[in-house]
This record gives sequence, structure tokens and C-alpha cells, in this order.
Amino acid sequence: MIISDFSKTKDKLLFTPGPLTTAMIVKEAALVDLGSRDSAFISIVQQIRQKLLVLAHVESPNYEAVIIQGSGTFGIESTITSAIPDSGMLLNIINGAYGRRISQIARIHAIPLIELIYDENQLPDLKEIESLLIENPEITHIAVVHGETTTGLLNPIAEIGEIVSHYKKAFIVDAMSTFGAYDIDMKSLNISFLISSSNKCIEGIPGFSYVLAKRIELEKCKKNIRSLSLDLYDQWSGLNTNGQFRFTPPVQILLAFHEALIQLEREGGISARAKRYAENNALLIRGMEKTGFTLYLTPDVRSYIITSFLYPNHPKFSFEIFYSKLNEKVFVIYPGKLSKVDCFRIGNIGQLYPVDIQNLIDAVGKVLCEMNIISIEQ
Ligand SMILES: Cc1ncc(COP(=O)(O)O)c(C=O)c1O
Repeated sequence: MIISDFSKTKDKLLFTPGPLTTAMIVKEAALVDLGSRDSAFISIVQQIRQKLLVLAHVESPNYEAVIIQGSGTFGIESTITSAIPDSGMLLNIINGAYGRRISQIARIHAIPLIELIYDENQLPDLKEIESLLIENPEITHIAVVHGETTTGLLNPIAEIGEIVSHYKKAFIVDAMSTFGAYDIDMKSLNISFLISSSNKCIEGIPGFSYVLAKRIELEKCKKNIRSLSLDLYDQWSGLNTNGQFRFTPPVQILLAFHEALIQLEREGGISARAKRYAENNALLIRGMEKTGFTLYLTPDVRSYIITSFLYPNHPKFSFEIFYSKLNEKVFVIYPGKLSKVDCFRIGNIGQLYPVDIQNLIDAVGKVLCEMNIISIEQ
């Protein structure tokens, strides 16, 4: 059995949606001073862009990878503000906080917007999407979040992609928390723009996002400038012209990410990583249910990335105490983000292995005993 690097560090274990627990070799790759115009750095950036396309089952020149400095939201904002022209319209399918964030970006930039809003535990209605596209031919782009990290819900991008392709629209997928964990074939899923970031399932450290884009759609962005630093087209043409970033790149984070991509290959690629995450998730759910917790989502809508658990109906339960007691025992979990229901979340991505999940479950049992919620460790 592979055990995590945790024994070699004093770090806490992050059961969160990112930043994640990362491999020592990935962190160590960042411990280098390298100029942003150094040929070694330029070559690494080029390799990263190529490897990302390979993971999405596409290649240049029909698809391109663009790296954007900043967190995941920067990549989303870059895509939304660059892709949709003033004469276009975005249909945003929402069932969580990250879906709502896409609308917030569109509103700030006065981008024409229609929203389809669902409950946070509900999948979108495909017939409703289709009807909206028929009734509103001015819609040019459809956006959806693949893994809604708000709850752990997984949206049906294959089915939505088919509708998008039938009506010849552009498809924007926020795959922040799923790329690297789910096999996403951009071409067969009809995805025009896919966005993720360095600190998610590729298991790098935080500091940049990346946009994988269909070249024809990327070229259309040239006319839609709404921001200097988030101009997706200009960022891409800068990288394509001389391999360099327009503005200071996060050199060390890119070096770590390059190592993370190598580690992903060593693990056996996305299928092997998916298997590990799914096993972690099954173990987590089994252990938490045995301890008495109930899940917010039903199995048919759940991903194997992050899971929402309802607060136990017990007068002595306080999330703050539960969280800090687990934290003292080095296990970092995540608060909920739901408006209507009291939940907390546990992620099982990053350098976490079944042994870590088991240790967390044991610690949860101990903490519930300490809080006098259960009397014997279960
Ligand atoms: C699905 C999704 N979209 C967008 C974001 C925003 O990313 P960031 O916090 O890196 O800006 C996150 C962050 O967790 C996410 O999970």
C-alpha cells in the first residue's frame, strides 16, 4: 500500500477542495530560482501546455492551452469576459455557489445573461435547457460547473454538451475541481473552453489557472477585450509568439505543477487517480455513515471529489468545536457553503490515501466522544 508523504512532514492533512495536501517532490520542485525568460523555464511552460492538452484528449493547433496568473476565478473571469461578445448572450446553468459566481462575473462586465437556476442538490433539466435555446436564439454561449464544489454534485456535461453542439453554441465548462480526477475528452464532449487551476486534481500548489480552448473559439476572443490582464486572446498570443508570459509568471508554481504532471503520469494517469479518489470517497462515506453522519446529496448526483455531510441533530454538536478538535489532531476539514442546510464538507483529493481516510474516520469518532455526542468510539 502507498502511504502518504505525511509522515515526512509536520503538515496537517487537508481534506479540503484545494489547496490540497501535495507530494514532497512537488513542493521541492518549487525551491529553485529561475528567470522568467530562461530557456529552461520557457521549455517547461511549453511542456505543461502540451501535457494539459493530452490529458483533455486534444492537441494543438485545433486546441490550445492558456495559463493565467492568479487563482481559478481569474481563469473563469478571463474566459467569460473574453469569449462572449457584446452582441452575444450567456446561458448560465446554476446549482451552486460557483455557478452563481459565473453570473456575478457576467453582471460586473455587463455581459448579456440568462440564468437557469436549480436547487443545490438538483441536476439541471435538459429539456428546459433545450427549450431556452429554442426560445432565445441570441444565446451564443452556455456555461456550467462540472463538479459543484459547493456540495460535491456532478453536473451532466456530456448530455449538456450534446444539446450545445446540436444548437451550434459554444460550451464553457468550469472543471476546476474535476480536471485530473475525471477523464474529460474535450472534443467528444463538445467543450469549447475548459477551466481549471494548479491546486486541484493535478495536485500542484496554488497560483495559476489554465484555460483549454478550441482554437476557433479562442480566435473569436480577439474582438472582445474587456480587461488587460485577463485578456485570454492576448495571453495566448503572447505565449505563442515567444513562449513568454506578458506579465510576471508564477515561476516556482509552474515548476511544481510540471513535477505534479510527471507524478500524475507515474501514478498511471487520470484513470489511476480517479480510482484512488473514488476508493478514498467510498471509504470516507462508509466510515462517516457508520459514525452516524448523513449525506446531503443522493448517490446519483454525487462526485467522488468532496462530500457534504449534514450537521448531526444533537444539542452538543457545534461545527466550530468539531472543526478545531479535528484540526488539533492534524485533520483539516471544510465548512459548508449552503444557504438552506447546515452542512460541512470533506474532500478526499490530493495526496490522500485509504490509510489517511481511515485515520480521519478514527479521529472523527474520538472527537465525537470528546464532545459527548457518542459514548463509545464506533
Ligand atoms: C468549481 C469551482 N469553480 C471555481 C472555483 C474558484 O477557484 P479559486 O478559489 O481558486 O478562485 C472553485 C474553488 O474551489 C471551484 O471549486
